[in-house]
Amino acid sequence: AALKTYQFDVKVTNVSRLCHSKPIVTVNGMFPGPTVYAREGDTLVVNVTNHAKYNMSIHWHGLKQYRNGWADGPAYITQCPIKTGHSYTYNITITGQRGTLWWHAHIFWLRATVYGAIVIMPKQGEGFPFPQPYREANIVLGEWWNNDVEEVVKQGNKKGLPPNMSDAHTINGKPGPLFPCSEKHTYALEVEQGKTYLLRIINAALNDELFFAIAGHNLTVVEIDAVYTKPFTTQAILIAPGQTTNVLVPATQAPGRYFMAARPFMDAPVSVDNKTATAILQYKGIPNSVQPVLPQLPAPNNTAFALNYDDNLRSLNTAQFPANVPLKVDRHLFYTIGLGINPCPTCLNGTQLTASLNNITFVMPKIGLLQAHFFNTKGVFTTDFPDRPPTSFNFTGAPLTANLGTKQGTRLSKIAFNSTVELVLQDTNLLTVESHPFHLHGYNFFIVGSGIGNFDPKKDPATFNLVDPPERNTVGVPTGGWTAIRFRADNPGVWFMHCHLELHTSWGLKTAFVVENGKDTDHSVMPPPKDLPPC
Ligand code: C2O
Repeated sequence: AALKTYQFDVKVTNVSRLCHSKPIVTVNGMFPGPTVYAREGDTLVVNVTNHAKYNMSIHWHGLKQYRNGWADGPAYITQCPIKTGHSYTYNITITGQRGTLWWHAHIFWLRATVYGAIVIMPKQGEGFPFPQPYREANIVLGEWWNNDVEEVVKQGNKKGLPPNMSDAHTINGKPGPLFPCSEKHTYALEVEQGKTYLLRIINAALNDELFFAIAGHNLTVVEIDAVYTKPFTTQAILIAPGQTTNVLVPATQAPGRYFMAARPFMDAPVSVDNKTATAILQYKGIPNSVQPVLPQLPAPNNTAFALNYDDNLRSLNTAQFPANVPLKVDRHLFYTIGLGINPCPTCLNGTQLTASLNNITFVMPKIGLLQAHFFNTKGVFTTDFPDRPPTSFNFTGAPLTANLGTKQGTRLSKIAFNSTVELVLQDTNLLTVESHPFHLHGYNFFIVGSGIGNFDPKKDPATFNLVDPPERNTVGVPTGGWTAIRFRADNPGVWFMHCHLELHTSWGLKTAFVVENGKDTDHSVMPPPKDLPPC
């Protein structure tokens, strides 16, 4: 195991896209930011120095941070922000994980431009459980706004309006040649005929689930969220914000130029952003004058494709990489996901869009929840988050025009150390049914079941896959449906859980778990590092 050190300088850099140049927040002046490389077992030491005028904090999305929430990064959950002119060092030991993850800013909407890949190779001498690829490449999907993202945020939060849609999707920070002024900086991956490539695909978009495909080439999914899967071959993948997907691509077509493309899966009745981002798979020796063809992507509202795709994801579940699904459940949780409208005297129209779990709209605290938990500071949060919604109704039936009395609060759920938890996330039709990619910090979980309509506690558990369900850190709760996840609460600390659509998070679609300490100091939260930013 090695020590890998990185210096992240957060600064404002001018970047031009779509014929506009504008200052954006970056790490080391790069967009997307630098890739972090490590091997399983290594310790990452990332010193973040903030030279920008915004507060900053970086999250290492999907790294488990055992007993060490201090290095997790969500602002006001596990740390206070790194202020302008200050530094904080994230110390992360990578145990039992290898694959593709990513890092991003975890404060306001700054992850719009502050993100990058994390590549964790298997331990020295250990290969992949699939044929060794010839080469590999990162494919980081994102969004671009011509407007200042800060303005977009203000619009979303203060005026109670949905914020501006992005002006383009991007592949490795670039929209591709279908957009103006974008031709000359298009991402291209050069391949040799007959060789196989491993693509590490990351969805860093703020608000869009995306389809991704390559013209003429099948994709074989071998890993999701840094967990190996049973390989399965598909024409397109579906990837939600927060998720990662590794695919093998054999370059077996006639030498030429082929578009790779990403565009949203959108089934909500809102204006569809179908601005397709493209990049190029370019066979060696083929001139740039050859016109590439576009892949067939599923239609934006192709829910059937989405359900079928998710159904095909299975944990590898071998002796070396077992799926340790909790078979017995100690704690059953049922959370409804609501989008609604709340009164807001200071807002335009006197109302504000709001989001809730079990009708509770999460209020961000003023100091870090993990500090408050560790030092036993009173008055920062309560641990009375309800295990069930206040009322039961036809969750996915005819749309109700208002929410069911959303309450505001910094209310958390307390979980006993090492207990097994089953959480059913149920979408509701309070304002609109929409899919929600839920991310849990500090853990992977098993997606044991999902379905359309209302979860039926009498019938549905009989359909659960307890053998080789997919293991992830982010799950797409289907539109008008439910998802059941299970995990063992063996990582003490305070762990954020939220919708990874930034818009919904900002409306309050979030909560946190307080996982209690185990019986001794080796099973308890570690003491905070000396340079933990003060509030
Ligand atoms: Cu990728 Cu809490 O986030």
